[in-house]
Amino acid sequence: MLNQEVILQQAQTHDSFYLYDETRILENTRQLKEEFPGVQFLYSVKANPYPAVLRCVLNQGFGVDAASLAEVRMGQKAGLGKAEILYSAPAKTDRDLQEAIGVSTVIADSVGEVDRLQDVAAQLGIHAEIGVRLNPNFTYTEDVGISAKFGVDEEQFYENLPRWKAMENITITGIHAHLHSQEMDAHLMAAYYGKMFKLAQRVQEALGAPLKFMNLGSGMGINFTERMQPFDTPYLGKEARRLMEQFRSALPQTKIYIETGRYAVGKSGTYCTKVLDKKVSRGKTYVLLANTLNGFMRPSTAVMMSKYMQDPTAPSWEPMFTGLDTVDILPLTDRGEKETVTLAGSLCTGTDLVAEDICLPRLERGDVVAMPNAGAYAAVVSPMQFASLVPPAQLFLTKDGQVVDATR
Ligand SMILES: Cc1ncc(COP(=O)(O)O)c(C=O)c1O
Repeated sequence: MLNQEVILQQAQTHDSFYLYDETRILENTRQLKEEFPGVQFLYSVKANPYPAVLRCVLNQGFGVDAASLAEVRMGQKAGLGKAEILYSAPAKTDRDLQEAIGVSTVIADSVGEVDRLQDVAAQLGIHAEIGVRLNPNFTYTEDVGISAKFGVDEEQFYENLPRWKAMENITITGIHAHLHSQEMDAHLMAAYYGKMFKLAQRVQEALGAPLKFMNLGSGMGINFTERMQPFDTPYLGKEARRLMEQFRSALPQTKIYIETGRYAVGKSGTYCTKVLDKKVSRGKTYVLLANTLNGFMRPSTAVMMSKYMQDPTAPSWEPMFTGLDTVDILPLTDRGEKETVTLAGSLCTGTDLVAEDICLPRLERGDVVAMPNAGAYAAVVSPMQFASLVPPAQLFLTKDGQVVDATR
């Protein structure tokens, strides 16, 4: 549901802006909590770190899935403790480890990082419980592991464990895995959860001590257009409850975490941009919008992919590319006439195309175009410094209908 009235009003002040809808975030986060009782959700801050959005999600009882020290700090500033800030990212610096170890649960991403965590904890004179991100011996679809930049291969974990268990300043108490994002098949994800619970049992046996937590990672996708079916969270929630019940006696102390960025906030955001100019060149009509590639990159990436691949079934590569037809372009005009146009932007590059030769209601200078489902991996992955143009405003629509600055 577009907040058309609010969008048109804000367009009087801003040439381009994101509008994040609190009501939608509250609906999505409440729904997850109801459907997955007993699970501690973690918000993947990288999806959308704007303070108003972050506060709204954390106020729903979500913890923080931090992908950087800065995101750890955001959780800390919100008053969260170590059990609610899980810091998992590849290639952390020494400073990252030193500053995060006392205030978050650090998830080691490599064999070397576990060793460095022992050194850091010893230097600080503390003992820390840590997790390890695993690259398991399975994928969503296969029962063999793949090579990955992320985590520690499961077999390497078992090889190193005797050494790690003897370390004085750290204890491995939990595991994390995340295999991919934007999965739309809840059955496949439920099968993945099943494999993860078995993995937790194997790890616990190897630890010889109760596994205190398992972070199942993310994966839940969102329907970016009305043509896509929504992800079946009720089914996945039911399966998660069934697995938690089934493994309760085997994993009595294991707290279950699930991460999500896009499911919490992806559908809450709308990108809005105004027509700045319109021209015809050799029979082709161009509508030029404010902040295209440099405001909301997703549509431009899709055009780029279609030019080079011309394969409508091209697999997604999140969060930069979801599919060729995954952004709805909604002109907020009603002149009753249609026109075939190419939507482009003001950058000095031909790559800032939003869509080529599409039939839309006729657009004129000053009109507004809205693109829904732009709440996650939208503003944060767009090259806003390009040409030093004024970036889109970040606005937050409160549940009481007030529009406030999302960056405060
Ligand atoms: C480790 C990890 N956790 C969580 C997420 C968040 O995924 P999403 O926003 O799709 O829920 C990602 C996304 O890349 C990730 O890499």
